[in-house]
Amino acid sequence: MGSTTKLDPVKGTVHLQRFAVAYEYPVHFTEFLFDPANPVLVEVLARHEPERRHRCVVFVDDGLLEARPGLVDEIADYARRHAARMELVAAPFPVPGGERIKSELFFVEQMQQRLFEHRIDRHSYVIAIGGGAVLDAVGLVAAVTHRGVRLIRVPTTVLAQDDSGVGVKNGVNYRGVKNFVGTFAPPFAVLNDLDLLTRLSERDKIAGMAEAVKVALIRDGAFFAWLERNADALITFERPALAQMIRRCAELHMRQIARGGDPFETGSARPLDYGHWSAHKLESLTHHHVRHGEAVAIGIALDARYSVLAGLLADGQEGRICALLEHLGFRLWHPALEIRGPDGGLTILEGLREFREHLGGDLTVTLLQDIGSGIEVHAIDESRMLAAINWLKERAQLP
Ligand SMILES: NC(=O)c1ccc[n+]([C@@H]2O[C@H](COP(=O)([O-])OP(=O)(O)OC[C@H]3O[C@@H](n4cnc5c(N)ncnc54)[C@H](O)[C@@H]3O)[C@@H](O)[C@H]2O)c1
Ligand SMILES: [Zn+2]
Repeated sequence: MGSTTKLDPVKGTVHLQRFAVAYEYPVHFTEFLFDPANPVLVEVLARHEPERRHRCVVFVDDGLLEARPGLVDEIADYARRHAARMELVAAPFPVPGGERIKSELFFVEQMQQRLFEHRIDRHSYVIAIGGGAVLDAVGLVAAVTHRGVRLIRVPTTVLAQDDSGVGVKNGVNYRGVKNFVGTFAPPFAVLNDLDLLTRLSERDKIAGMAEAVKVALIRDGAFFAWLERNADALITFERPALAQMIRRCAELHMRQIARGGDPFETGSARPLDYGHWSAHKLESLTHHHVRHGEAVAIGIALDARYSVLAGLLADGQEGRICALLEHLGFRLWHPALEIRGPDGGLTILEGLREFREHLGGDLTVTLLQDIGSGIEVHAIDESRMLAAINWLKERAQLP
């Protein structure tokens, strides 16, 4: 640590400034977070300054509010019951759920305005309650206000609890490019409440399972086998199975961020983005009618087949992967995979260029060398990828 100084008669003096910052945030798995008898939220707020009354502004996903109209009152009641430690600066603000909040900068500005009006400072809290899209947009607002105010995430979809909510990224879309505007900003805390998932649509419950399959494929073969054994319990959303899946998936993500050596993605590799180069493009091509998790399931299948065609993964393993995804309820084909641009080429393949541009440097795509083991490659053969796309199409047409 500290700085070192070098003198050079030609170039002058250079001071090399060097310091490291350790990040730490708790990720809780609880139930009934806003039951006044549950101390998790208030204890998290008071973690650093137990004697203070903490000011909080809350943004809530309006899709969640539709499913749980009583939630705003529950939150207000919780704050009243813990008034010695917390203060809501205003009633919780509903914000648009789903990709809409990430697609118009207007919503970012509107939230910024709220923080300004209520004089939120760097010791106040922004509490974001919602799906991955709401967490991404609120996270950006919290990260850039006063150069970073404390953010507590309360993820309310399977995907947000097992993947996006426990990580360090935020962002919104710009001119159709996913996450073009965003920052890396670790949260103050993450509070996962299993009960909040109860009234989530079946479609969104299933969508979030794609990330569990993904992380199992690149990191943990035993978890993949567990998913296969528990697929029946997962598709009927049996609570213990769902809870275990979310926890294991979140743990694997957290481990990658903490120990993978590059939490802020300064290199060219994005190992957690296996299956994502095509998924992000498919989401944009379908104007987000395909959910992130649904697109990821297709991306996983596509890159699994490509891995076999490239001689990396044993023939037949891609069938096993597709069988699990289908068992969980995913459809592994979408006609948008066949959209062609003015030059006659498949538009989905632009996803590779956009994926590289997001990080810069060499193209780095994670493929599979085994179930439970990812491998990075730096080139993708287009004709092989076309063959993989055709394979998915033919499979989808089988009776
Ligand atoms: N930051 C990251 O690291 C990261 C990682 C993966 C995905 N993401 C982003 O996450 C987003 C997808 O998130 P998602 O899959 O959670 O979907 P989502 O946020 O789009 O939410 C899906 C729908 O569920 C509704 N909803 C949310 N919680 C609910 C509940 N408990 N009950 C009923 N309805 C509820 C929402 O209003 C919305 O209509 C994408 O924008 C994706 O890019 C970010
Ligand atoms: Zn994802």
